[in-house]
Amino acid sequence: MDLHGKCALVTGGGSGMGASVARMLGARGARVAVLDLNADAAEATAKEIAGVSFSADVADESSVKAALEETISQIGIPRVVVSCAGIAPASRILGREGPHELDLFQDVINTNLVGTFNVLRLCASKMAELDPVTAAGGRGVIINTASVAAYEGQIGQAAYASSKGGVVSLTLPAARELARVGIRVMTIAPGLIGTPMLMKMDKDVQNSLASQVPFPSRFGQPEEFASLVSHVIDNEMLNGEVIRLDGAIRLAPK
Ligand SMILES: NC(=O)c1ccc[n+]([C@@H]2O[C@H](COP(=O)([O-])OP(=O)(O)OC[C@H]3O[C@@H](n4cnc5c(N)ncnc54)[C@H](O)[C@@H]3O)[C@@H](O)[C@H]2O)c1
Repeated sequence: MDLHGKCALVTGGGSGMGASVARMLGARGARVAVLDLNADAAEATAKEIAGVSFSADVADESSVKAALEETISQIGIPRVVVSCAGIAPASRILGREGPHELDLFQDVINTNLVGTFNVLRLCASKMAELDPVTAAGGRGVIINTASVAAYEGQIGQAAYASSKGGVVSLTLPAARELARVGIRVMTIAPGLIGTPMLMKMDKDVQNSLASQVPFPSRFGQPEEFASLVSHVIDNEMLNGEVIRLDGAIRLAPK
């Protein structure tokens, strides 16, 4: 898809992979809306690419509705939506302080799964109003972010793995249903990517994690994630599938 002058929306665009995706989209000529809970971070990314930014909580219906309406009035209806907003707090089911806090489990599901669905449903309803831009009748694409933890959740990742498993399972039914309106739905499941989410861990934990990646034996770069997003946008046969981006890592139990 030629992105020149087209509109794109990225959640979690204030940091890490989302920021990298926003830069890639900007470099390809798209007008980009950057959404993030962190208003300053979203603004900083948007400034780099002459985009627009909004502070929004992906899990909150009115917050995303307002940001989307504002996006549409300022730059148009997004044809590309990339959901990168997410949180990854670790907690054991049976911890030293007692059982896993139910609130924490619900927060993670709410942000990572409900938030992804909320953005998907609201953006799809607007995208469906656009004219098709491909010979097959394609109107746009929604790309979600899961994690390899959806398949090999580690000890301490009960909530995170459950939320990302939900994102994986959402992909096919969403793609099947939205096929009618020419909207593709894809998910990327990253392994270990060198973003603030990982880089704030201790150096020795980082080294131990990186050494578990068979090849290349390092963290992935946010730009490599953005490069895959760019390919997914262009390759219309990719639909309803989850792509691992992980250097062949299979997470150990802990
Ligand atoms: N870094 C990794 O190794 C890795 C691996 C697998 C999956 N992921 C997933 O990739 C996505 C991006 O992660 P990252 O590593 O770039 O993280 P990051 O922490 O650098 O960025 C995440 C961004 O999401 C925003 N955010 C959090 N909750 C939000 C909410 N409710 N509404 C709006 N914005 C919110 C944060 O403010 C932050 O700017 C996440 O979904 C994460 O779970 C990351």
